[in-house]
Amino acid sequence: MVGVLGGGQLGSMFAVAARRLGYRVAVWDQDADVPALKIADLPVAAPFADPTALNRFAGSVSAVTYEWENIPVALGEALEQRLAVRPASRILRILQNRVEQKQFLASHNIPVATFRPIAAPSDLRAAAESIGFPCLCKTATHGYDGKGQWRLAGAQDLASVQEQLGKQAHSPWVLEQFLAFDKELSVLVVRGADGDKRVYPTVENVHEAGILRTSRAPAEIDPRLAQRAGDLAASVVAALEGVGVFCVELFLMPDGGLFVNEVAPRPHNSGHYTLDACTVSQFEQQVRAVCGLPLGEVRLLCPAVMVNLIGEDLTKVSAGEGLANLFRQPGAKLHLYGKKSVRPGRKMGHVTFLAEKPAQAWESAETLRRVLRCP
Ligand SMILES: Nc1ncnc2c1ncn2[C@@H]1O[C@H](COP(=O)(O)OP(=O)(O)OP(=O)(O)O)[C@@H](O)[C@H]1O
Ligand SMILES: [Mg+2]
Repeated sequence: MVGVLGGGQLGSMFAVAARRLGYRVAVWDQDADVPALKIADLPVAAPFADPTALNRFAGSVSAVTYEWENIPVALGEALEQRLAVRPASRILRILQNRVEQKQFLASHNIPVATFRPIAAPSDLRAAAESIGFPCLCKTATHGYDGKGQWRLAGAQDLASVQEQLGKQAHSPWVLEQFLAFDKELSVLVVRGADGDKRVYPTVENVHEAGILRTSRAPAEIDPRLAQRAGDLAASVVAALEGVGVFCVELFLMPDGGLFVNEVAPRPHNSGHYTLDACTVSQFEQQVRAVCGLPLGEVRLLCPAVMVNLIGEDLTKVSAGEGLANLFRQPGAKLHLYGKKSVRPGRKMGHVTFLAEKPAQAWESAETLRRVLRCP
């Protein structure tokens, strides 16, 4: 049996991939009402600090992974005493804190935006003055989907952001230079226990209000640039010596320069297109890497564009003939996550559009984006 910590959509997609390869799956989540617990062979709904749950889970599985980086490092370490945790808790510790992550990357000569750690709100002014405006203050831990971020356009924003930081449950923070990028890119890198690696095609992402809206595979960029992005992402994962699936988010600057925004030690929303458009999906690769199987091919079989269904989007696509039209549309693949309720900003599902030509996939995605009234 193979185990996954976290039972949201990423845990579910891992469980489905593991099942297909013949594994039984244990899922551990703190919330009893998450999708992956419903399809687990061994569902564990208990706090991550619960020692009875730890014994039950660790006693049943032979390898463990996780669907997000915010699981307690102490849990990863406790599991590691008894079995393989992939990626290792050492990597969780580096990546779950933006300050440590950026320091790690910078110390390995990986380009990142200029940054300063912010231990207390009173550190903000000096840090902003040394970086310059505009800049962005982010919570060092527990941030996702652009939550826990404050943009400072100029010195006039210092007081209000300082006040906001004073009210936050999580500290510290990191202040970073705001980069006026041309495009956002991401690259999935898979690395096996034997050091074997696979690099998926470079993908181009569009965010709205800090949340991923659309991913386009392959990115519409010069192939040499796409290769450079893939090489940079692979060098990040090599530096981490990580085993598993990693997503490296990148900023492409107008002069062709690349900066690493952040690294996730798990499959990523921008890699969902691999479920329908690649020989082996990111989730199957996660199973293979975690279980020590040979890694799979990362070939893109056809161009693909993925559109996220966020919050009320689900209501909009479900209205009238919406879903029927989607089912009728050639190349459209609907994925719904089975979440209990719709909440603003919550990822409810996604649609991947496959086509022979990139422009056709983009055109199909545009039709959906119009229904969703994406800006
Ligand atoms: N330094 C920056 N300069 C310009 N834009 C930025 C910068 N950092 C982040 N952003 C924008 O905000 C988005 C979210 O930021 P980031 O990836 O750091 O946060 P997150 O909450 O971890 O997001 P996610 O969970 O979606 O990966 C980025 O994809 C990008 O669009
Ligand atoms: Mg991000």
